[in-house]
Amino acid sequence: MLIRRPSDILPSEITSRDIYLNRRQWMTGAAGLAFAGLAGSADAAPLSTVKSPFSTDEKPTSREDVTHYNNYYEFGVDKSAPAANAHTLKTKPWTVKIDGLVDKPADYALEDLIKPATLEERIYRMRCVEGWSMVIPWVGFPLADLIKRVEPKSGAKYVAFETVYRPAEMVGQRGILPVLDWPYVEGLRMDEATHPLALLAVGLYGETLENQNGAPIRLVVPWKYGFKGIKSITRLSFVEKEPPTSWNRQASNEYGFYANVNPAVDHPRWSQATERRIGEGGLFAKRRPTLLFNGYADQVASLYSGMDLRKFY
Ligand code: MTE
Repeated sequence: MLIRRPSDILPSEITSRDIYLNRRQWMTGAAGLAFAGLAGSADAAPLSTVKSPFSTDEKPTSREDVTHYNNYYEFGVDKSAPAANAHTLKTKPWTVKIDGLVDKPADYALEDLIKPATLEERIYRMRCVEGWSMVIPWVGFPLADLIKRVEPKSGAKYVAFETVYRPAEMVGQRGILPVLDWPYVEGLRMDEATHPLALLAVGLYGETLENQNGAPIRLVVPWKYGFKGIKSITRLSFVEKEPPTSWNRQASNEYGFYANVNPAVDHPRWSQATERRIGEGGLFAKRRPTLLFNGYADQVASLYSGMDLRKFY
C-alpha cells in the first residue's frame, strides 16, 4: 500500500524496551493523564471470554505493537497515526444498520448485537498486504452467528460492510486529497462470511477494542490480507451482486475482491512470498515464508476450488 516512512518504524525498534516501557508507565501515570487522548480510547474494559479451538499456539505480538502499529486511514497514513488520532471517534452509543436482502432488517444497538453472543478469544495469525504479520488475540464472535440471526433471503449472495463516515471525528476523512473514497467499504461472498473462521471482533487482549483497532466492532478474516478487516462497522447489507471494496476502487490491478493470502501471487510492486513478523528482531530479522491462505488452507481452500487464484486475486 503506502511506502514505509520513518514514522512507521515501531517504537520498540528505536528505543530500548526498558526505556520504552518506563516512558509508557509515566505517560499512563498521574502526569500522563493529560496525554490520555494520545494513547487512544481511555476506556478499554475487560471482557469475559471462552477459549476457541481455532486459536494458533504461536506467540502473540505484544499488545503495545498491536495497538500502536496500525492501518486506519481515516486517522492518517502513518502507522503511528491511528493510535495518536483515533480517540476523537465517539463509539458510544453505536448503531449497526442491517439492510438489503434480509428478513430482519433494523438499526441494531451494538449491545443488542453482542448480547446473544458468546465471546471467544481467538488467537489468529494476521498478514498485511504490505508484507508484515502479527499474531493477535482477538475477542469476538462468529459473523455466521449474526448472519443466522438476521435471516438473509435466498437471493443474498454477498455481505457488504461499511465503516462510519464522520469527518468531524475522523481527521483523515477531512483531507482535501483523500487517500480513499469514504466511507471505507468491504465485502465477502456469503460462503466466506458464514465460514466459522470469519469473526466480528469487539476486543483484543481480553479487553474492548481501542479505537485505533476498529472499536467498537470490526471484521477479522484471518486467511485474507488485513485490509479486508474493515473497522468501526456501521452497516452490513445483504446483496445479490459483488459489492465494491475500497482498495479495489483505489487500485484494481493491485487489490482484488478476494484478497486471499497467497505467496504465489505477487503484488504488482512487490513479492508476497515472505513476511516480517512484527516484534521479531526489527527490520533486519529473517523473513518467514508466507503460507497459502495464511496457513488456514485446510479450513478454507474448498471455498475456492475450481477458481483461478491468479485471476480472482
Ligand atoms: N478499516 C478502515 N475503516 N480503514 C482502514 O484504513 N485499514 C485496513 C484494515 N481495516 C483500514 C481498515 C488495513 S490496510 C489493515 S492491514 C487492517 O485494518 C489493520 O488492522 P490493525 O491496525 O488492527 O492491525
